[in-house]
Amino acid sequence: MTDINITIIDREGKEHAVVAPTDMNMNLMEIVRSYELAPEGTIGICGGMAMCASCQCYVKSDHPLSEISADEDAMLAEAFNLQDNSRLGCQIHIHSNLDGLVVELAPKV
Ligand code: FES
Repeated sequence: MTDINITIIDREGKEHAVVAPTDMNMNLMEIVRSYELAPEGTIGICGGMAMCASCQCYVKSDHPLSEISADEDAMLAEAFNLQDNSRLGCQIHIHSNLDGLVVELAPKV
């Protein structure tokens, strides 16, 4: 399988069912940007380096995500609107085991 289905809830609470490729080495932040689900300049500001938290999202489904790295953990510790299920979208790599993932974008900071 090369595409997975993801549900992304935007910052206005609207649900979007999107298809994400697993063979292009993309992360969730890049998927949000490619579907233009957040205004340009409000997500992915650091380019996916775990240095801005503009890509913070809340993981609503029970999927096996990668471990939180020290860099991600440190950035989340400084982020606003943190919740128990917060992750940085740029650190969630699109993989076939994430089919059915549901995430909500954290408010703009
Ligand atoms: S894009 Fe900056 S932390 Fe994810």
